[in-house]
Amino acid sequence: IVTDQTEQQTETRPTADRPERTAVRKSVLMCRPDHFTVVYRINPWMNPALPTDTSLAVQQWEALYETYLRLGYDVQLIDPVEGLPDMVYAANGGFVLDGIAYGASFTHPERQAEGPAYMNWFDAAGFDVRRPLEVNEGEGDFLLVGDAILAGTGFRSDSRSHDEIGRVFGREVVTLRLVNPSFYHLDTALAVLDPTPGREHIAYLPSAFDEASRAVLEARYPDAIIVSEEDAAILGLNSFSDNRNVVIASRATGFAEQLRAHGYTPIGVDLSELLLGGGGVKCCTLELRR
Ligand code: ARG
Repeated sequence: IVTDQTEQQTETRPTADRPERTAVRKSVLMCRPDHFTVVYRINPWMNPALPTDTSLAVQQWEALYETYLRLGYDVQLIDPVEGLPDMVYAANGGFVLDGIAYGASFTHPERQAEGPAYMNWFDAAGFDVRRPLEVNEGEGDFLLVGDAILAGTGFRSDSRSHDEIGRVFGREVVTLRLVNPSFYHLDTALAVLDPTPGREHIAYLPSAFDEASRAVLEARYPDAIIVSEEDAAILGLNSFSDNRNVVIASRATGFAEQLRAHGYTPIGVDLSELLLGGGGVKCCTLELRR
């Protein structure tokens, strides 16, 4: 297996800007890209005319999987289904919190069959499954930060699903409107670095949001990391953090530097093949919170 992992050491001495970061053990769901390919175009990254290499996609995905195992995570797997090439992007399969799994209802017909496939898995795994009435693409557009759920809309999840998820989990929901089609899911434009109530920390790309949403983000997260257009343009924000280690696209070197300066340990993984479908690290990862 070819891995491209660059793990850099942080300086050991914590400072005010570089606080001590403590990792939590994550539990995640992933889907091996055995049937990955690009045969339709539902986001600007996808071009069915360009060839894809499924075995390379599997190899790169395995490097991500191994990284999570090495970090001590509990990694669950859902069986890939033939004819659902985007099923590798497990983040879209639902939103799981407090042992409740709020199912996905996909925007595009090409992915609609993934909703029930993921709900069956949640059910078999013992989660309390809530079938959605409104169009939503799971953790692609819903991110837990502190006690609130940040909720994206504009391209995929319908804003009516924001009310629905609020009722399901009884939490505050903060609607954020995405305006750039290249950043069509919230998790392509915003990364949760630490969701712990009282020490919430995020990174984001301001230009991906409308003005009102930018104002909300500035007010709620004044110490957020603002990433460069360059790093965002290779889906550098599409990353997964355990509050200390942040698994990111290996090409997002500027973001890696910013993370180190804030006391995190960036771990680069190359998912270039899955980028052809418009997804990165976070897209391949659905967090399971019992
Ligand atoms: N091809 C997929 C789509 O357009 C990619 C999904 C990426 N997932 C994510 N969580 N951003 O739906």
